Amino acid sequence: MLNKILETADYIRSKVDKIPETAIILGTGLGALVDHISDKKYIPYTEIPNFPVSTVEGHSGNLIFGLLGDKPVMAMQGRFHYYEGYDMKQVTFPVRVMKALGVKTLFVSNAAGGMNPDFRVGDIMVITDHINLFPENPLRGKNYNELGPRFPAMTEPYSHRLIRIADGIAADKGIRLMHGVYVGTPGPTFETPAEYEYFRIIGGDAVGMSTVPEVIVARHGDMEVFGVSVITDLGGKDITEVPTHEEVQRAAEAAQPRMMEIMKELVAKA
Ligand code: HPA
Repeated sequence: MLNKILETADYIRSKVDKIPETAIILGTGLGALVDHISDKKYIPYTEIPNFPVSTVEGHSGNLIFGLLGDKPVMAMQGRFHYYEGYDMKQVTFPVRVMKALGVKTLFVSNAAGGMNPDFRVGDIMVITDHINLFPENPLRGKNYNELGPRFPAMTEPYSHRLIRIADGIAADKGIRLMHGVYVGTPGPTFETPAEYEYFRIIGGDAVGMSTVPEVIVARHGDMEVFGVSVITDLGGKDITEVPTHEEVQRAAEAAQPRMMEIMKELVAKA
């Protein structure tokens, strides 16, 4: 695994002049951030050695290097989901490569179903913590001490410092910004009413099918992490609306301008 990470990092270094210290995984709801990156260089995943190739509708696969404001960033346009059939090492491989390249801060976004009764469709939720319900931890197996400790602490998976900055930006701009615990599930089924209820009872505010594996690996490598969810549908035992992929995309699109306002400034200030 170490050789593959280094090989991929070397390839990327050979293609890019300046390697940034900030990386962004453009999940649902953040795709349009690409339009705000200047001096862009695209590297398609298909050209990157050892990179898996993304298959899902609405997720094209490119690494993008450029400037967000004045800040050099690298962005993943398209991520790898466990439900697509990738194993956890593949899902999190790009985060290992980021770390090998010297990235220090990781921003992630996703679409999620809301269980918190205060949430509305279109809300933006800062992830304050997560519950890992994936059937496998990405760190399972041999630990490479070069990458991080065998038993990493998960006391502060999402940076309190970055959450405070995001709260300040949202307050200044008058944008409603919720806080909550993200429950990470394998998918690809959306939840049954009883499952939404269960996730609420165990302390979840929103549920989705990504992010947790990448964040675990980022924290293993001691990167600072900020995560945000767009609430694209609501679930619970009394909610009968049927969530669809199209509805999720639509709600995420509607939230995108607000998401962009917060993220542009947050990345610049981070
Ligand atoms: N459940 C799981 N994943 C999701 C949902 C949901 O309700 N909405 C968007 N992604």
